[in-house]
Amino acid sequence: MEMIEGHIAIDPPLGVPVWDIDPYDRDILRQPDDYYAQLRSKGPFAFIPKYSILVCGRHEETKEVFSDWERFVSSRGVGLQDFKLETPWRAQSLVVEADPPQHTRTRKVLTRALSPKATRALAESFQVAADKLIEKLLERGTFEAVEDLAEAYPISVFPDAVGLREADKRCLIDYGAMVFNALGPDNELRRNAMAMGPKIVPWITRQCQRENIKPGGFGATIFEAADAGEITEEEAGMLVRSLLSAGVDTTVTGIGNALWCLATFPDQFQKLKEDPSLTKPAFEEVLRFTTPVHTFCRTADVDTQVSGIKIQKGTKILCVLGAANGDENQWPQAHRFDVTRRPMGHLAMGVGIHGCVGQNLARAEVGAVLNAIVAKVDTIELAGEAIWRPNNAIHALDKMPITFKGG
Ligand code: HEM
Repeated sequence: MEMIEGHIAIDPPLGVPVWDIDPYDRDILRQPDDYYAQLRSKGPFAFIPKYSILVCGRHEETKEVFSDWERFVSSRGVGLQDFKLETPWRAQSLVVEADPPQHTRTRKVLTRALSPKATRALAESFQVAADKLIEKLLERGTFEAVEDLAEAYPISVFPDAVGLREADKRCLIDYGAMVFNALGPDNELRRNAMAMGPKIVPWITRQCQRENIKPGGFGATIFEAADAGEITEEEAGMLVRSLLSAGVDTTVTGIGNALWCLATFPDQFQKLKEDPSLTKPAFEEVLRFTTPVHTFCRTADVDTQVSGIKIQKGTKILCVLGAANGDENQWPQAHRFDVTRRPMGHLAMGVGIHGCVGQNLARAEVGAVLNAIVAKVDTIELAGEAIWRPNNAIHALDKMPITFKGG
């Protein structure tokens, strides 16, 4: 059996075009729009020989593959490696890298910890923190928005919401980048991420232990499930790890990308100023338009068919959520950022049983920041070039100098 990037090599299925492209090329990761458009034009799937994978980017097939957990499993890894054939770099996640019935049991605990009620209780303190930060940045006028806003805000509220006793900003942010880069091929991005492991992983592992979790946060609710015998003590620690893996870099990216949209499309920002009730749907449009998690994989666990294409058992399928969110068949004028769109059905938070369990929290955090900006800032301008940071699974900014002006 021939292996490529930790999974079996396959022959291109009949009727699927062979596409000689590297979706993990740094230039594509920085500016993916042309790649997304080409991918959609290829049909339901394309075959990429460099990695011996299928790739899909039309809304219909991406949604089908991404949500059908019985045929396209997550337990074999949501990156290029097939965990049935290779050992992952860290113990496999109990949620995002699990299938039912195991997933059902652990997901239930996280759903309770991050319930709408639990996140609503944080809304007021989130808003106070956001108002304070935006006022401070407004006084400064020009600032580095990735570090001073997109990173600074989640780091000021998230560790407390989880109940961490310690909050090392760099460890929390870099761990997320590491986890997401690990989903790609053995390229420089992945190797650099793995090299950070010895510094970051022991710190993260310590924060997931019961003695390092304060009462009253999401972490405490998870350990209560261990006390009740619903999950083991070890599983509780692993579920806290899931929050630290998926809960920081993603919201940092959500805030950065939202600001980039508002700075790049000032007419859309003015619409929010005129009607602040559009702020919530505007964040959904940011998610659709910039898709913070651009790709996740699934593995076919059976021989099957999608849109008439035969897919063999063991095939890795790259689901390009960023391309699916730009599908004109789903959203007319998809290339336009439109805060009035209300883009129901976008895939940026996933879909089906693995749909983002932290989405209420993400919306509460980013919503607080956007509310503060809309209320206090009159104009947002790029004060220099916005530079995107290549990552094997995340589409995020690296640098973005911004000027806020207020009345
Ligand atoms: C803008 C912010 C966010 C985005 C774009 C995002 C995106 C996603 C996506 C696309 C998935 C689906 C993965 C899959 O189907 O394989 C997912 C799942 C998940 N997310 Fe988020 N996420 C965000 C924020 C958060 C936050 C704040 C947390 C936790 C505090 C979180 C925790 C998780 C977990 C644990 C899963 C796995 C759920 C499961 O497999 O059942 N996410 N997220």
